[in-house]
Amino acid sequence: MRNIILIGFMGAGKTAVGNRLSKKLGYEYIDTDQYIEEKEGMTISNIFAEKGEEYFRNLETSVIKEWMLREKPTIFSTGGGMPLRRENAELLKELGVVVYLKAMADTIYDRVKGDTKRPLLQCDNPKQKIIDLLEIRNPKYEAACDFVVCVDNKDIQTVAGEVTKLL
Ligand code: S3P
Repeated sequence: MRNIILIGFMGAGKTAVGNRLSKKLGYEYIDTDQYIEEKEGMTISNIFAEKGEEYFRNLETSVIKEWMLREKPTIFSTGGGMPLRRENAELLKELGVVVYLKAMADTIYDRVKGDTKRPLLQCDNPKQKIIDLLEIRNPKYEAACDFVVCVDNKDIQTVAGEVTKLL
């Protein structure tokens, strides 16, 4: 039983699919952002606003290192930026099977529009920001993963089923 790590852009469904998978497979479940918020006693938005993105990115690297010491099989839902640092991508592959939940910009925009909890999308034109970030990030997600699952037009159950079949 290897750990499963879900990576992908904001709104790809990493948290919802991770939750579903942990119930389906009986694995423990950790959501990166929630873990960091509890550890710091602050929301992600406040961490970005008060301590800066670099501080948050360093926290992401340090929590992956903590997870390397865990023994129980676990599903990890990562924050959308976590696998972008090469060091993190390498650590995540060591941690377990990395699955990229891949979504098109339209799918992402539909899911995150109106959201106020994602600091990177609090801008005048979030749709364009998604398109721009996705172009930069997609090759990095592809390089960081063992498998890709496309999530457009699929519900959580279907995506979780597809991930299970890869194992
Ligand atoms: C981020 C994604 C967020 C959160 C932070 C930064 C990113 O997580 O970690 O706002 O850089 O893509 P979700 O992917 O769970 O929204």
